[in-house]
Amino acid sequence: MSVFNNTIIEVAALVEIALDGFLPSEPGPLGRVADAMRWGALNGGKRLRPFLAVASADMFDCPRERSVRVGCAVEMIHCYSLIHDDLPAMDDSDLRRGRPSVHKKYDDATAILAGDALLTQAFEILAQEETHPDGAIRCRIALELARASGKQGMVGGQMIDIYAEQKAFDLAGVTQLQRLKTGALIRFSTVGGGMVGGASDDEVAVLAAYAEDLGLAFQIVDDILDETADAATLGKPAGQDAEMDKATFIKLLGMDGAKSKAAELVESAKARLDQFGERAAPLKGAADFVFERKS
Ligand code: IPE
Ligand code: IPE
Ligand code: MG
Ligand code: MG
Ligand code: MG
Repeated sequence: MSVFNNTIIEVAALVEIALDGFLPSEPGPLGRVADAMRWGALNGGKRLRPFLAVASADMFDCPRERSVRVGCAVEMIHCYSLIHDDLPAMDDSDLRRGRPSVHKKYDDATAILAGDALLTQAFEILAQEETHPDGAIRCRIALELARASGKQGMVGGQMIDIYAEQKAFDLAGVTQLQRLKTGALIRFSTVGGGMVGGASDDEVAVLAAYAEDLGLAFQIVDDILDETADAATLGKPAGQDAEMDKATFIKLLGMDGAKSKAAELVESAKARLDQFGERAAPLKGAADFVFERKS
């Protein structure tokens, strides 16, 4: 197995244990939202974002206890974004990670609250001393995640995604949409990992450049899979983008054009890491995975 495969399996297991600890079940009226948070965050997903955080931090010999916390924080934001993305007011998707989405398992109000609680808990984790003994570094990481998650990041991208339905968007417009919707959290994952690991500003900038290419490639492949794969393989509904007339690279470049664009971005992402030599092998492997993945 490749170094990427080994690492992502290892990280996924560590993240599962850590998330289970961060998200205990509880009795009483709060039990419902606690269970919905668990439903939305545990037992599923590729855990690519925590992998990126931990693999980036590993390059600087960061203790895994710290980097896994950064990985859990970004995964919580990601899971919250998926819970809200699936709501009837957004993509209206009943299936996520091969099982009912949170609003189907519970109800819309509980899904909104579970998302909100995951969002806030991500920052609670980053603020705690166990994430890094230096408060200034913790603050820097939290600032990065806030920017990547909010109006200038994922939330902004989701807004444009909805606004762009049934409208003509040019290449610059779709690139901007995807950079915010998906790219921002992927970028945070590597940057946050670098920061918790003690990377220099220059090294963080290299990680950011890698992740910007990777994030765009990732969403192009998500759009390709939406069109070409089935729900059983994806674990989420297929064919929704065409149905809702979403702005995608496929709509602009055609299927072959979108595939070559993703391939180009993956090669560019890998080349960005050349200065790190062998240490970057897991991150380079992740770039190949993003292109070849089937779900
Ligand atoms: C799906 O992300 C949503 C997008 C940003 C395209 P992933 O494909 O990483 O979903 P999981 O975490 O593996 O379920
Ligand atoms: C949603 O993009 C990305 C976020 C949740 C920010 P999509 O709507 O394409 O994601 P999927 O395809 O439902 O996973
Ligand atoms: Mg969506
Ligand atoms: Mg969706
Ligand atoms: Mg999609």
